[in-house]
Amino acid sequence: MIRFFENYPLKSMNTFGIDSRARYFFEFTELQDILEFMENPVFRKTSSKMILGGGSNLLFIRDFDGLVIYPNIPGISIEKEDRSFIWLRVGAGVVWDDFVAYAVSEGWGGVENLSLIPGNVGAAPVQNIGAYGQEVCDVTDSVTGIDIKCGQVKALSAAECQFGYRNSIFKGELKGRFIITSVLFRLDKFPQININYSGIGEALKKQPNHGVADVRDAVIAIRRSKLPDQAKIGNAGSFFKNPVVLVNQAELLRQNYPGLPVYGTAVPEQVKLSAGWLIQHCGWKGIRRGDTGVHKNHALVLVNYGNATGEAIFNLSEEIRLSVLDRFGVDLEREVLVIGLG
Ligand code: EPU
Repeated sequence: MIRFFENYPLKSMNTFGIDSRARYFFEFTELQDILEFMENPVFRKTSSKMILGGGSNLLFIRDFDGLVIYPNIPGISIEKEDRSFIWLRVGAGVVWDDFVAYAVSEGWGGVENLSLIPGNVGAAPVQNIGAYGQEVCDVTDSVTGIDIKCGQVKALSAAECQFGYRNSIFKGELKGRFIITSVLFRLDKFPQININYSGIGEALKKQPNHGVADVRDAVIAIRRSKLPDQAKIGNAGSFFKNPVVLVNQAELLRQNYPGLPVYGTAVPEQVKLSAGWLIQHCGWKGIRRGDTGVHKNHALVLVNYGNATGEAIFNLSEEIRLSVLDRFGVDLEREVLVIGLG
């Protein structure tokens, strides 16, 4: 099935709820559809293309004068299994949390900590979604899609995806060029649950034998208590990444701000700071300006209370970024992709 429109409204296609339009919009449910559409003059002649997943990590600051491609491929199927693992092929258009719910209901482990993350499966590897001690790269076997530069269908191994913290090759070299059609996940049939992240362990203390379903319940409860419901208040989760700095810089900051949370990384000389803490301590948490603001329970989440423009949210984010830079000497990098900049 395909759907093709001109001047298409994107308000319901981005979780910030920004009222922006796409010059062209193409949705497809089968690989063959996009291969055929690649011969179409609109595809060939429109140089500006973007691939839309669940729209949960985007901020439109103006209309998009190009072609939006929406891969809506359904389906979850078992590709293979052995004694310990099961490999599931999941279509790019499957809602991420539907996949997590299915895996958890079968008792398979590896994605339960990623419960309730908004967006579609095809978008998950792009920014290597992560939460509560798990990242999607940990369970990704390969990512299949079409390289629109050469028109070839390719399967990239996890190593080829160049995963990093909220990063991958799909945000770098292959940005706007690789349409993910499915992801092959490898899940654990005998899960080792990971409840080290603060909050989850405490929530499960009372239960002696917890499994993946208990972890999912705990994660859902924590997320609901901290993060605004995107169906009610427009937002895109964390607006900025947690900044990675050198150990020395963190130590200097800690001398002046002993409460600053500092987390280790895989690189011994580097640590991660809490962007939410930095923003909160610049006084932004809970502020509201017209229809834009910073959420009252989490300073890393910028919100649209109704009719905010993308530009207003972007301007607020820049003010926040500059105030953190001024006070702490740390330049926050956006996690959200701003469409229409420069
Ligand atoms: N904190 C504050 N003030 C705030 C928010 C947080 O001081 O307003 C401090 C607290 O010390 C808190 C700590 O930051 O204990 C960590 O907060 P939280 O557990 O909410 O995690 P985070 O580092 O702010 C990251 C991810 C989230 C993910 C959570 C849980 C990034 C950019 N964000 O946030 O991901 O859900 O960890 O694992 O890495 C997203 O990417 O959109 C997202 C929501």
